[in-house]
Amino acid sequence: MTRGATTTSDGIIKLDSRFEDGAAFMDGSFVPISEARIPILDWGFTRSDVTYDVVHVWGGKFFRLNHHLDRFEKSLSSVRMSIPHNREEVIAVLMRLMRLTQFHDAYVEILCTRGMPPKGTRDPRKCDNRFIAFAVPFVWIADNEMRERGINLHLSRFVRIPPVSVDPTAKNFHWGDMIRALFDSYEQGCDMPVVVDLEGNIAEGPGFNVFAVKGGTVTTPGGTCLEGITRQTALDLMAELNVKTQVGTVSPDQLRNADEVFVTSTAGGIIPVTKVDHEPVADGSVGPVTENLRRVYWQKHDEGWDATPIDYES
Ligand SMILES: Cc1ncc(COP(=O)(O)O)c(C=O)c1O
Repeated sequence: MTRGATTTSDGIIKLDSRFEDGAAFMDGSFVPISEARIPILDWGFTRSDVTYDVVHVWGGKFFRLNHHLDRFEKSLSSVRMSIPHNREEVIAVLMRLMRLTQFHDAYVEILCTRGMPPKGTRDPRKCDNRFIAFAVPFVWIADNEMRERGINLHLSRFVRIPPVSVDPTAKNFHWGDMIRALFDSYEQGCDMPVVVDLEGNIAEGPGFNVFAVKGGTVTTPGGTCLEGITRQTALDLMAELNVKTQVGTVSPDQLRNADEVFVTSTAGGIIPVTKVDHEPVADGSVGPVTENLRRVYWQKHDEGWDATPIDYES
């Protein structure tokens, strides 16, 4: 195995520059991110036959790591894949990635691809599933300016692939709908799209869940979207803050007429939406529920709430 960071006798950590852009664990080895590649015949590539999870590291600590690993295990079972590592071993791989990169704020992904069927067959049962993990610097789904002013969300005409076809709770690469919606949203001059379910109600966006606040109650869609860990964090924190929440249907009109709208993602936390299709949400400013929730979300990070600290030296 490659060692990325070493500590000199005077205690200074020296980083191996090959890992400065990120590191990956593949086929039992740790490699610089630029050298990590999968064979072209892996069904992860040819069929988008992958499940994955993304956890972030903030201030040198994983945030809600066990929630992400629980969800990854459920996703694996939903898509009938397995990996040759138990949870302790996966955590050891992630810790090693962090030591190699020395990133204190990072985007850390664990994946399992279907792998390749034996020559001449197309039987997914015969594939050796491939476990991969990688760490790169923290990625934001919305830049600084968007996070401050709130995003201009486009209510897309595109329908999220329905749960009868693909289990939305198993995090997946079926993003054809999201990519079409992204192009459309940019063409409309908006920042990001939200796609709908078969009934035309709000489902989710490319990398985020959606919440609408009305008359003191906060509603987020359920059943047609990924059960985001940040969505769960938002629900947990609002329970602490005595804000009434529910998982239910959010129609396009409920979104347009909400007092506040926000989205949640591992890659950005709580992000306000201040316009829907260029029309202001309420008075177009970031509302008090969103503002408070965002503050508490980052405060929890500073306090080490549900955090797994990283030992960068051992
Ligand atoms: C389709 C989709 N919905 C929702 C989310 C938000 O989930 P989380 O809060 O776990 O990042 C993601 C995250 O990537 C996603 O891909």
